[in-house]
Amino acid sequence: MDIRARMDQLVEELDRHNRLYYEQNAPVISDWEYDVLFRELEGLEAEHPELARADSPTRRVGGAPIAELVPFVHEIPMLSLQNGFKREEPDTDPWIDLRDFEDRVRRVLGGDAPATIAYVVEPKLDGLAMECVYEDRRFVRGGTRGDGVVGEDVTHNLRTIASIPKELPPSAPARLSIRGEVLFDLPGFERMNAAREAAGERRFENPRNSAAGTMRQLDPRSAAGRPLHFYAHSAGGLPLRLASHHELLTRAAEWGFKVNPLNRLCNGIEEVIAAVADLERLRVDLPYEIDGAVVKVDSLALQDALGFVTRSPRWAIAFKYPPPTARTRLDSVLFSVGRTGAVTPVANLAPVRVGGVTVRNATLHNEHQMTRVLGLRQGDLVEIRRAGDVIPEVLRAVDEPGRDARPLVTYPEACPQCGAHLVREPNPDDPDKVLIRCPDKLACPAQARGAIRHFASRHAMDIEHVGEKIVDQLVTHGLVRRPSDLYGLTKEALVGLERMGDLSARNLLAAIEASKARPLDKALMALGIPMVGESTARDLGRHFGSIDAIMAASIEELTGVYGVGENVATSVRAFFDEPGNVEEIQRLREKGVQFPATARVVNGTTFAGKTFVLTGTLPTLSRDAAKAKIEASGGKVTGSVSKKTDYVVVGADAGTKLEKAVELGVKTLDETALLALLEGAS
Ligand code: IVH
Repeated sequence: MDIRARMDQLVEELDRHNRLYYEQNAPVISDWEYDVLFRELEGLEAEHPELARADSPTRRVGGAPIAELVPFVHEIPMLSLQNGFKREEPDTDPWIDLRDFEDRVRRVLGGDAPATIAYVVEPKLDGLAMECVYEDRRFVRGGTRGDGVVGEDVTHNLRTIASIPKELPPSAPARLSIRGEVLFDLPGFERMNAAREAAGERRFENPRNSAAGTMRQLDPRSAAGRPLHFYAHSAGGLPLRLASHHELLTRAAEWGFKVNPLNRLCNGIEEVIAAVADLERLRVDLPYEIDGAVVKVDSLALQDALGFVTRSPRWAIAFKYPPPTARTRLDSVLFSVGRTGAVTPVANLAPVRVGGVTVRNATLHNEHQMTRVLGLRQGDLVEIRRAGDVIPEVLRAVDEPGRDARPLVTYPEACPQCGAHLVREPNPDDPDKVLIRCPDKLACPAQARGAIRHFASRHAMDIEHVGEKIVDQLVTHGLVRRPSDLYGLTKEALVGLERMGDLSARNLLAAIEASKARPLDKALMALGIPMVGESTARDLGRHFGSIDAIMAASIEELTGVYGVGENVATSVRAFFDEPGNVEEIQRLREKGVQFPATARVVNGTTFAGKTFVLTGTLPTLSRDAAKAKIEASGGKVTGSVSKKTDYVVVGADAGTKLEKAVELGVKTLDETALLALLEGAS
């Protein structure tokens, strides 16, 4: 048999077994037999790399890591949905937002509205929006939603997801872009956490964030081992004629996509309301997370007639459910020490399932919240809430007999990590909220760990392999006390650590070495100056051009930087006035960290010195995205229009800023013109 034909045959065989295994949970061959086929294909691909198929199952379970995430441009922007909520006010119809939605649909359609409008009600899956693109019926690439126009290409990770078909049947259009949601299944998530714990790894707290983190990994092997699924829910432009959304869903299922079984076709808004209410009841028992229901007008002709407002279609609405809550017992309160020494209270709870996920910890925010707002007592029964992206929080303590007799929970006097006497710093913004800090920056292992983790993190020096576990080990073994110590590590010292082989040690050292050349703004961010995040670091870097200039800047000079106010300026000045910090920078430099001086505007220069004001809602770009794009080309975005403004970018429902621009004769741009200018700029 010819080699290509054998390889094709193996791909098909393995795909079939993958489907049986992953999707139907009904394997027909043993793992060993699977491995034999898999190895044969791997061998042939190694011998004939030119014949290796992009959709090969060998790539799916962990192809080669990619070097970096690259942008993924959506041919048709991925829009978002307007939100509706259940009303809790007395004398108000709880479903008023859904009825308003139907009224609006009818108003816009006018005489074209049918007597009964058909809708599809779908669970609003709490995952990550993705687009999967097919050419010649093969999955060729996929990316995240990003700002709706440009996301990140995560094809390598999407390939590992069994429920994303890698090849479509002949009945499917040759070119197709299917959109949907990537999420964890909750039983799988719990199993994965149990396995992680058994292996001494940190538990993942939040399925959505973990899915996002997994999809952004450069090495697809992480994604390959995790229980991720893709549910198709829409298409990016349809290359075939269909009459309705439900028909699209039916077809998508025929083409091999996973389509949510709870999607329901409804006639009229009353059926919609019943379906939305049903979903809310079912929600707690679903094996994945949903945060609402999506209601879509079914007829594609009506969808066309309804069109869009700004960034959302008029034919759909997201009806959000309140975040799930649960009650459980407080075991103890743990005082966690952050990288700046701030001590925050965390509730240790009897494990409880909230919205399908087991919660063991919840934040108590600060002393004020813990003692004044909650009045927390030892052994309290507490109500907690887990909302989408945020850390679970304790909402209140439940009153019960005998509660008053139990002791209040109080802050410790000494740092739980190093024993130093804690200091209380008044919070200038809110006298009720004092900051409680451990003052011992160097001796406190918690602060050292936090500072080093921050230093190495993706938004800072981006040192691969220096994750939480490694940092913990480095600090515990006394190998590293401050970030500059990273640059003095040797292979000999590293191989003594748990699970650290020769190769890992070499990789780690290479990653540390590579970080020496990180740009000024990243290195600045890495220092962990209080109140200096990514964007402030970038502004400072651009404005001053060198670390020496920033270190020498007065408060007045610092506040001259766009986006830097009095508080930030004071914090920056105070940081560089502390001899310990200056010494650490000196040490970093001696070890070879370059803080490379940047041209005073780093990226583009076309907009250098130009000031923009944004007003109204742009059709596809969010405000943040527009701002980021302008800034990346050297421009500044300010809040109000003056004679000094160069351009006002105008979206829908623009108000007085547009009037002001006209009055002052400032040039105006719409989104298209802005994007065209930006295109010219890059
Ligand atoms: S349809 C134009 N259907 O919700 C509307 N979106 O704000 C296209 N989402 O991030 C989206 N479940 O990815 C649609 N059944 C569903 C959904 C869903 C979750 C997400 C979507 C987007 C957000 C919309």
